[in-house]
Amino acid sequence: MTPSPQVQNALGLDISIKNVGKVFGETTPNPFQALKPVSMDIQAGEFISIVGPSGCGKSTLMLMAAGLLARSEGDITIGSQPIVAPFTDIGIAFQDHLLLDFRTAMDNVLLQADIRHLDKKRMRERAQDLFLKLHLEKAMNKYPRQLSGGMRQRVSLIRTIVHEPSVLMMDEPFGALDALTRLQVRADLEALWLDTRPTVLFITHSVGGAVGLSDRIFVLRPEPR
Ligand SMILES: Nc1ncnc2c1ncn2[C@@H]1O[C@H](COP(=O)(O)OP(=O)(O)O)[C@@H](O)[C@H]1O
Ligand SMILES: [Mg+2]
Repeated sequence: MTPSPQVQNALGLDISIKNVGKVFGETTPNPFQALKPVSMDIQAGEFISIVGPSGCGKSTLMLMAAGLLARSEGDITIGSQPIVAPFTDIGIAFQDHLLLDFRTAMDNVLLQADIRHLDKKRMRERAQDLFLKLHLEKAMNKYPRQLSGGMRQRVSLIRTIVHEPSVLMMDEPFGALDALTRLQVRADLEALWLDTRPTVLFITHSVGGAVGLSDRIFVLRPEPR
């Protein structure tokens, strides 16, 4: 796998992870080492997959990289910013799509605008473009319960990227989808990524999960316990 060519208008930022480890319950009588120190240097605009069996610390690593979980040791920077608080120039996706039942697909996407106090008109235009790009225009004004699981996950993908974040972190986002739907959503992700080239951390438990998209794949081994 070769690194992607530098793109001129890449939005991505470098991510540096140096000797980052996590012990849960550090100050308790039963500390638990969830992640032995790991290091990785990720270039702006790279698509990185992190692969490893369940329980090896993938989600823990991602949460620390996003600044959502305190690390026990090591240093993380994104761009030139040391991560000591939740990083905001980011889109995060989880396995469960987490759409709100009482908002239409479009209004779920526009949550980003509400939360981040962004220009709603501009965000709506950008969201419309993305719905069209993924051929989801019919879903735009429907509620989550009216959509298939695959469509909900694709709407969630639009929400993850609508504010043009420099970094995308995705924790097994296709895990709950059947094989065919997963292919569709993966194609969508690729199309969206090529659009603005954010730096991507893509987490999956299966090697087959993201190979086609990845510039590099990091394998996290399970801790022998
Ligand atoms: N908040 C927590 N407190 C204690 N242990 C945790 C916590 N979160 C995760 N763990 C443990 O840390 C290990 C790594 O978890 P996780 O990062 O979720 O693994 P993965 O995402 O690779 O499946 C697991 O053994 C898990 O049970
Ligand atoms: Mg996990």
